[in-house]
Amino acid sequence: MSEENSKLKERVRAFWQEHPCGTKFADAEPGSRRFYELVEEHRYTKEWHIRAAAGFANSKNLSVLEIGCGLGTDGAQFARAGANYTGVDLTQAAVDLAKRRFELFQLPGTFLVADAERLDFPDNSFDIVYSHGVLHHTPDTAAAVREIHRVLRPGGQAIVMLYHRNSYNYRVNISLLRRAGVHLLRWNPGVRLVNFLTGEPEDALREHARQLQMQPGYLNSEEFLSRNTDGAGNPLARVYSRAEARDLFKDFSRVELRTYFLNKRWLPLLGPVLPRSLESQMASRWGWHLWIYATKD
Ligand SMILES: C[S@@+](CC[C@H](N)C(=O)[O-])C[C@H]1O[C@@H](n2cnc3c(N)ncnc32)[C@H](O)[C@@H]1O
Repeated sequence: MSEENSKLKERVRAFWQEHPCGTKFADAEPGSRRFYELVEEHRYTKEWHIRAAAGFANSKNLSVLEIGCGLGTDGAQFARAGANYTGVDLTQAAVDLAKRRFELFQLPGTFLVADAERLDFPDNSFDIVYSHGVLHHTPDTAAAVREIHRVLRPGGQAIVMLYHRNSYNYRVNISLLRRAGVHLLRWNPGVRLVNFLTGEPEDALREHARQLQMQPGYLNSEEFLSRNTDGAGNPLARVYSRAEARDLFKDFSRVELRTYFLNKRWLPLLGPVLPRSLESQMASRWGWHLWIYATKD
C-alpha cells in the first residue's frame, strides 16, 4: 500500500471509530437494547428496500461474510435467517457494537477487526460476501473487490452497495443544490433556512460552515463529495457509474446492477409527498445506492 493510501486509511479508520455508522439515528444509550431497536427501525423505515435487495431471507445455511458490518444491523438479519455469519470492520468501535448486538439478541456470529483490502481468510471460503456502503470509503476499492473475488467460493455471490454517480443525489443535490446552498451557511439565517428546507440538523450545518472556512480544499469536487455524504468530517467517499461498477467487477462471470434509494430528504418540498410507487420508479434510474450482484465462476 502506498504511503498516501496508508495515511488516508488511518483517517478513514479514525473517522468511523469516532462516528460509528448509524449511531446518530438512535436517541438511546449506545449498546442498549433500545438503541439497537431504534437503529433497526430507522434503517428499514428509511431504506425500506434493503431487506429485499440484500435477500436476507435466502441466506439460510449459507456462509456469509459482511465487510464493514457497522452496528451489525444487516448482520443480525442474516443471522436470524439462519446464515453462518461473519462480520468484519476496520474499526474496533463497530466490531464491539455489532458483537454486543448479537450477544443481547442471542444471535450466532463471528466478528473481527479487518481491512477489506487485505482479508485474512483462505481462498474460496464464503457463499456470499455482502458489503453495504463501505467500499467507496476505502482508498483502494479495486483491491477490496479482488479480495472479495478471492474469498468467494466458485458459484458464490458478491452483493455490494456503492454510491451512484448518475443519481439525483450526486448530480443535483450534492453537485448543484448543496454546492450553492453551502454559501448560505456563512450566515445564521441561511443556516436556519437550509435547516427548514432540508431537515438537516443545525449543528451538522454549522460543522459544514466551519469546514468551509477552515479547509482550503472543501469546495474541490472530490473533497466536497466526501464531506457531503456521511458527515462534514468524512475523509473519503466516491461515486460510481454503472460502467465504472462493471469495470470494477470485471473478474466476475455475471454482474447485475440495480439502483435504489432516492434520499427524499434532499428533494426539497416534493420529498415528503412523493408516493412510494413513483419513488421506486425514480430510484430504479436515479437512486443513490448502486447495488452490484456479481457471481464468481
Ligand atoms: C457508512 S458505514 C456502513 C456500515 C454498514 N455496512 C451499514 O450499512 O450501516 C462504513 C463502514 O465501513 C467501515 N470501513 C471503511 N473502510 C473499511 C475497510 N477498508 N475495511 C473494512 N471496513 C471498512 C467503517 O469502519 C464503517 O463501519
